Amino acid sequence: MKFVITGGKKLRGSIDVGGAKNAVLPILAATLLTDEACVIHNVPLIRDVDRMLELLTNIGRTVIRNGDHTVTIGPARRQSPIHTIDPKLVKSFRASFLVVGPLLARTRKIRITEPGGCSIGNRPLDDHFHGLRRMGVTIVRSDGMYTFSHRGLEAKTITLVAPSVTATENILMACVLTRGTTTIKDAAAEPHVQDLCFFLERMGARIKGIGTSTLTVTGVGNLHGTMHDVIPDPIGALSYIMMGLATKSRITVAGIRPDHLDVPLETLLAAGARFDIARHSITLKSSGLLKEMKIQTRPYPGIPTDVQALFGVLATQAQGTSLIHETIFDGRFAYISELARMGANAVVCDPHRALITGPTSLYGQEIRSPDLRAGMAMIVAALIAQGQTIIYDAQSIERGYERIVERLSALGADIRREE
Ligand code: EPU
Repeated sequence: MKFVITGGKKLRGSIDVGGAKNAVLPILAATLLTDEACVIHNVPLIRDVDRMLELLTNIGRTVIRNGDHTVTIGPARRQSPIHTIDPKLVKSFRASFLVVGPLLARTRKIRITEPGGCSIGNRPLDDHFHGLRRMGVTIVRSDGMYTFSHRGLEAKTITLVAPSVTATENILMACVLTRGTTTIKDAAAEPHVQDLCFFLERMGARIKGIGTSTLTVTGVGNLHGTMHDVIPDPIGALSYIMMGLATKSRITVAGIRPDHLDVPLETLLAAGARFDIARHSITLKSSGLLKEMKIQTRPYPGIPTDVQALFGVLATQAQGTSLIHETIFDGRFAYISELARMGANAVVCDPHRALITGPTSLYGQEIRSPDLRAGMAMIVAALIAQGQTIIYDAQSIERGYERIVERLSALGADIRREE
C-alpha cells in the first residue's frame, strides 16, 4: 500500500487523538486474567488492535465490538490445558507476546513463537525471561518455539536490566494472581504501563508504586470483570502536535493528557514553539523559526523513542544543527536516508546519533516507510515538501494511527491511499 501526498498545504481545524495503542494492547491481553466480561472503551481502530482481538478469539475468548470504540471481551469459550498460540498471528505484531504473562498466571504450560513487530533494531526478550524464570517458569526453545511451563508461580523480587515496557507488563500480569508479594524493580513507568496497572486494580489486583520504577504487587485469589477507558495516546498527541508545528498550522490537538507530555512539550517550547495548553487539548499558535534542538530519547518521562523521527523531521525546519540522540534502539535512523533524498541536510553519525542542519526545503520524492513511527514522520516530511511524495510500505503506519488518511484529509491535507 502507498500514500500519495502533495505537500505545501496548511492544516486547519481540530483532531481528536483517541486511545493509546500501547495501553490498549496489554489491557486486552490482561482480560485473559478473568473469565468475566470486560468492557473496554476508547479502543483505537487500528491493525494491531484487530490482531490482538483475533489472538484473543484464537485463544478461546468471545470478542464483541459494541460500537466504534468499545469492545467487550466475554467469557472463555473453551479452556484448554496447553495453549499453543497461532505463530502467524504472533509473528505479525510485537505486543502478541503480552499474552504470555496472563496465560501463565492461569495455566501451567504455553507454547509461543518469537514475536514480530517493527524493525527498529535489536529487541531482546531477556528481561521477560529473567522475570518469569525468577517466578519459577522453565523456558525451553526448540524448532523456533518457546515452551513456558511451571508448577505454580512464586512471588519474588525481580530487578529488570532495562526498564522494558512489555517485560514490566508481562511480569505484572503474571504475578497479580500469585500468592505473596512480588516486587518489580527498575520497572517501566510509561503512561501505558500505568494504565495497565489501573485496569488491573479495577479487576481487583493490589499494586503499589504505580507510575514509579518500583511496583509492589500483592497477589489476590482471583480477578473479576470490569469497565475501563483507555488513556489518550501520548505518541499520537505528539505526532499531531509536531505535524502542526512542522507545517506551521494552527491546529488543535484534542482529547489528550498534556500531563503525559511534559518533557517533549518543554523541549518544543525551548526550541521556540508556541501553543496554548488546556486540560485536554493543545492549540498551536504561530511560531517563528524554531531553534536547533538537542534531543535524547529516554524512558518516561523523557522524550519517547517513538517520536524521535518526528523530532528529526522538525529539525529540518529549525535554524542550526540539531543532535538527535536515540538511546533506546539501535535501528531507528532508517528514515534519515529518505529525508536526505527529499533534500534534508541530515547525516547518521552512528547507530545512536544523527545530525540535522536546517532550515532546508524538502522536495517530493518516492520514499518508503521504514516502520510505524518513522512512517508518521515521513508523512510529516511529505506534508512540508514541495510537490508530490509517494510513501511505499504505508500499511505499517495504519498499525498504529486510526484512519490516518481520512483524518488528515479532514484537516485539509492532500493525501490519498493507493493499494
Ligand atoms: N530491552 C532489553 N531486554 C528486554 C527487553 C528490552 O534489554 O528483555 C531493552 C531494549 O533493547 C530497548 C529497551 O529495553 O533498548 C526498551 O525496550 P522495550 O522492551 O521497552 O520495548 P518494547 O516493550 O518491545 C514498547 C513499545 C514500543 C516502544 C518501546 C520503548 C509496546 C507494544 N511497544 O516496546 O512501541 O518503542 O516500548 O518505549 O508497548 C511503537 O508503538 O511503534 C513501538 C515500537
